[in-house]
Amino acid sequence: MTKFVAIVSSKGGTGKTTLAVNLGSALNHYGRDLILVDGNLRNPNVTIHLGLTTLPNTINDVMNKDGKVTDAVYRHHSGLKIIPASIAVHDLKGLDISKFKKAILKLKNVCEVVLIDTPPSITDEHFDLLEIADEIIIITHPELPSLTDTLRIIKLSEKAGHNIIGIVVNSIHNKKFEVHRENIEGLLGKPVIAEIPFDMVVKESIRHNTPVVKHQPNSKASKEIYKLASMLIGYVPKDD
Ligand SMILES: Nc1ncnc2c1ncn2[C@@H]1O[C@H](COP(=O)(O)OP(=O)(O)O)[C@@H](O)[C@H]1O
Ligand SMILES: [Mg+2]
Repeated sequence: MTKFVAIVSSKGGTGKTTLAVNLGSALNHYGRDLILVDGNLRNPNVTIHLGLTTLPNTINDVMNKDGKVTDAVYRHHSGLKIIPASIAVHDLKGLDISKFKKAILKLKNVCEVVLIDTPPSITDEHFDLLEIADEIIIITHPELPSLTDTLRIIKLSEKAGHNIIGIVVNSIHNKKFEVHRENIEGLLGKPVIAEIPFDMVVKESIRHNTPVVKHQPNSKASKEIYKLASMLIGYVPKDD
């Protein structure tokens, strides 16, 4: 059975694409048959993070030309399988999310997990897209404005009947003014499933079009993402 998991936040810049690329890569590392889909059709950042902007087939071809979804699946040099989105401006015209949903649902029984990176807003289009997700992971920064927005997206997601796996807190600087884990869990009423430090190697890895979990597997950020991946699949690493 294929599980559809979406990475969500209430605004841009929280680290959705970074988490999608790296959690996807870490789950792939642990043997999950996974396809990462660039679901940010207006700003296809997964495609750009991984340097896949010149591939002949994208999710837009599957949506608009009723193409075979497997023709748009590529294996990145890191081993991660991804479906890119088109960076061409003309593909933005008449964007129809129902076509995206139809295209993605073609991945049912093609792989174990479909991981979807999502656009940065709380709009009807956004929730329409989330309809295909069996589970969602919400990512936030440890700051009050980000957390307040996150609470709104949790409420709206729950109202829409989505199953929230938990909260990933990203870009932690370990400063006194940051909101701590217990307070985040108290405020949001959801478990914090990962705390990813701010780490310059994340930015460096994007420059190399490579997930940081492959580029610097021993960096603090990578270790936390591997820990999250292993927790999600119930895998206990031997050296723990
Ligand atoms: N843990 C981190 N440490 C350092 N930089 C990060 C981290 N997570 C994300 N970033 C940076 O923050 C920016 C926004 O991340 P991105 O994943 O594109 O966010 P979103 O998809 O939510 O808009 C990028 O420049 C990325 O390199
Ligand atoms: Mg993004």
